Amino acid sequence: MSDLELLKKEAALRAVALVENGQRVGLGTGSTAKYAIEELGRKLASGELSGVVGVSTSEASEALAREVGIPTEPLDPRPLDIAIDGADEIAPNLDLVKGLGGALVREKMTEVQAGRLIIIADHTKLVTRLGEKAPLPIEILPFGFLSTVERLREIVPGGRLRMNGAQNYVTDNGNYIFDAQLPAEIDPAALERQLKGTLGVVDTGLFLGMAERVFVAAPGGVQELVR
Ligand code: A5P
Repeated sequence: MSDLELLKKEAALRAVALVENGQRVGLGTGSTAKYAIEELGRKLASGELSGVVGVSTSEASEALAREVGIPTEPLDPRPLDIAIDGADEIAPNLDLVKGLGGALVREKMTEVQAGRLIIIADHTKLVTRLGEKAPLPIEILPFGFLSTVERLREIVPGGRLRMNGAQNYVTDNGNYIFDAQLPAEIDPAALERQLKGTLGVVDTGLFLGMAERVFVAAPGGVQELVR
């Protein structure tokens, strides 16, 4: 395992240390969240934790949770105590871009119900403004998707439909993703309102005001950022 992977795992362990017995936990998606799911499974198997139930944010995380022995439930209206997930960009105020792994809608629906959203990521995800390094994933309905893409291009001129080889990439929800290139000067909250008001859009990868803290895997060790 590379040094960065070891640090990502350490960041995941710090986040899982916040989970308490009997809690309902949102299980994130991606290579960093994977370490958290594995650690949660390890703690349940060893008896360090008990009574924890997971709510998965993707089919992949659900499969991993089952593999490591975490009991899971589908999302329902009850609140979650905590959710642990990765991110693609982290702004200084802990606003996030998520969804490069394609799970943005289930992640947002799950994590908005969590009392605490804990983000684990390596230091390359820290940015001074959202859109600096990563595209903004926007999940759209397949029906009339070219019309939706045209509408989106009027708001954010750059960007392209995500592909999986020669086919359109398909999310766990059966939808497509438009990866938008954000201009330098954006008001994230206004953009979120505008994008979500666009016909054919399911949701965006903007996670604003949601993260409570971030454990950053950096060369010098794991740093903790708090909103
Ligand atoms: C999944 O849809 C994303 O929101 C992930 O949380 C994100 O891509 C982070 O993944 P890594 O931990 O693999 O970088």
